[in-house]
Amino acid sequence: MTAETVTPERFRQAWSNFGTGVTVVTTAEPDGKVHGMTANGVVSVSLTPPLALACIGHNRNSFPLIKANRRFAISILNEEQTAIAEHYTKPPEQRSSDSAIPFVELGESRVIGGALAAMDCRVVSEHEAGDHTLFVAEVECVSIGEGKPMMWFQGRFGHFSAD
Ligand SMILES: Cc1cc2nc3c(=O)[nH]c(=O)nc-3n(C[C@H](O)[C@H](O)[C@H](O)COP(=O)(O)O)c2cc1C
Repeated sequence: MTAETVTPERFRQAWSNFGTGVTVVTTAEPDGKVHGMTANGVVSVSLTPPLALACIGHNRNSFPLIKANRRFAISILNEEQTAIAEHYTKPPEQRSSDSAIPFVELGESRVIGGALAAMDCRVVSEHEAGDHTLFVAEVECVSIGEGKPMMWFQGRFGHFSAD
């Protein structure tokens, strides 16, 4: 391990070694359409009450939407949903149509059908942190699916393998 100054590149590289699952965070556009973005900056915060957190960059199109709606949903993707994850990593103007995305309703939100789990979340507080805002939200509705998780490690999507 080498100890050097924290540059943006080294910060990114260090965190790329943190393997995570992959989610799509959805919220509503003003016309009611679903807006999604791929996110791994999500975390379970509290059991009682059930709270989750999503960390959203200020330059994301999702940011003003979540701030205004005070609601979002988290869909934890399974390993067969890589095309959906890739779709939502692109800026909206570079995405193809969302018509192939299998949305289903959950509480007041729409989530990705077939996801390993999904949660409908109502924002209860927000905390600005650098170039992101942490949206802490109460999970009002949850659905649980089956399958294996999609993973993200060193800039690539992959599979989980148990020992
Ligand atoms: C694996 C992965 C995880 C990501 N996680 C986050 C995240 O937690 N928060 C965030 O603001 N952007 C995250 N991004 C970037 C967004 O997915 C990307 O900027 C997307 O185009 C934003 O869409 P939007 O501008 O329509 O909201 C992630 C990208 C990848 C590939």
